[in-house]
Amino acid sequence: MDRPCGPGARLLARCSSRRAPTRLRDEEPRDWPAVHSVHAAAFGTSAEADLVAALRADADPVVSLVAEHDGAVVGHIMFSPVTLPGHDLKIMGLAPVAVAPSRQRQGIGSALVRAGLERCRALGYGAVVVLGHPEYYPRFGFVPSVRFGIRSAYDVPDDVFMALELRAGYLQGAAGVIRYHDAFGRGDLDPAT
Ligand SMILES: CC(C)(COP(=O)(O)OP(=O)(O)OC[C@H]1O[C@@H](n2cnc3c(N)ncnc32)[C@H](O)[C@@H]1OP(=O)(O)O)[C@@H](O)C(=O)NCCC(=O)NCCS
Repeated sequence: MDRPCGPGARLLARCSSRRAPTRLRDEEPRDWPAVHSVHAAAFGTSAEADLVAALRADADPVVSLVAEHDGAVVGHIMFSPVTLPGHDLKIMGLAPVAVAPSRQRQGIGSALVRAGLERCRALGYGAVVVLGHPEYYPRFGFVPSVRFGIRSAYDVPDDVFMALELRAGYLQGAAGVIRYHDAFGRGDLDPAT
């Protein structure tokens, strides 16, 4: 059985396994069909895959990373800029992330999240928000965004909308409602990942 990718996994890191490494790298155009398939299989709908395509086309910048194993894309994560009206802050929204069903619970999702956060930090972003499973994201340091006075525009329980400061204190005094890219408003999607 493969060893899970470790918490220190970074972009272009290789995760050890007996058979072959799982490699994290920037998404390339040749990956687009496989990325679509991973999201469709993981979510059971093409909505998230379509969102990825829309963000690729319209959002700038995006952080878009794939996990590759034996030459196949087995996971993908995307981050796109969000805004907090009234504040000049560089904040990314994490959405969506998916791992192929047969490769879940092997550390790939965690490695993608950690590598993506590092990439956002390197791009000069000070914080990341996510709307997702409250049991999953706290392990990366996410806390309910209401602690910073920040809310989602979506009608969701407080614990599922979370924020992470990439720079200590970055969200201090930054109260308000986060706005996602317009691509999230197309179709029936909210930014739950
Ligand atoms: C969520 C997802 C990206 C995690 O990727 P992964 O490679 O399976 O995750 P990892 O192996 O790094 O981490 C596994 C941990 O995540 C937890 N986890 C996985 N899916 C979860 C979920 N839906 N809710 C809560 N926890 C979840 C597992 O319980 C496990 O916890 P443990 O380490 O305490 O045992 C992947 O399961 C997936 O693609 N799911 C379907 C799509 C989806 O729901 N995406 C959004 C999730 S917010």
